[in-house]
Amino acid sequence: MTSNPIEMSLELVSERCPDLTPLVYARLFAQYPQMQVLFWRDTTHAVKGEMLAKVFEVILDFIGENLYAAHMIQCEVVTHAGYDVPPDIFRVFFATVADTIREQLGSAWTPQIDAAWNKLLHDLDFFVTHPDQNETAAAEAG
Ligand code: HEM
Repeated sequence: MTSNPIEMSLELVSERCPDLTPLVYARLFAQYPQMQVLFWRDTTHAVKGEMLAKVFEVILDFIGENLYAAHMIQCEVVTHAGYDVPPDIFRVFFATVADTIREQLGSAWTPQIDAAWNKLLHDLDFFVTHPDQNETAAAEAG
């Protein structure tokens, strides 16, 4: 078992619930019914599942080597504007993922896991609100 609280939470939740897709989107659409219509093409739920899988990959890369995660988030903010997804919703989506895991873990959601997710949500949001890679590259260099 890993000592990283985010990885630990993902391992624990995958043991309890192998597919979080229906839970995450049910929670998202209950809070933001207007998001459901944006997925009108996704009649088989394949895009929803693929998107969530990508989000977990991005998170694991982001907390690890961050080889591509920050750039991918910045790109997705731009490409998703084409699906009428406003940038604010990224924070909501990531928080919805965290809330779904918290609900599934119950008492196994420790203060360490809580603190790690809060920090992660904050760090991810930086790249959502700063999608310009020239700007963030300059900040990284400086
Ligand atoms: C880092 C975060 C995200 C990643 C990595 C991601 C990834 C993806 C991918 C890979 C696709 C499929 C593109 C394609 O092959 O056509 C997609 C489509 C889509 N995503 Fe996301 N997404 C993210 C965040 C979001 C958020 C926050 C929303 C808002 C609820 C959203 C809504 C959509 C919609 C509406 C589609 C198009 C569905 C369709 O018409 O087929 N995405 N996303």
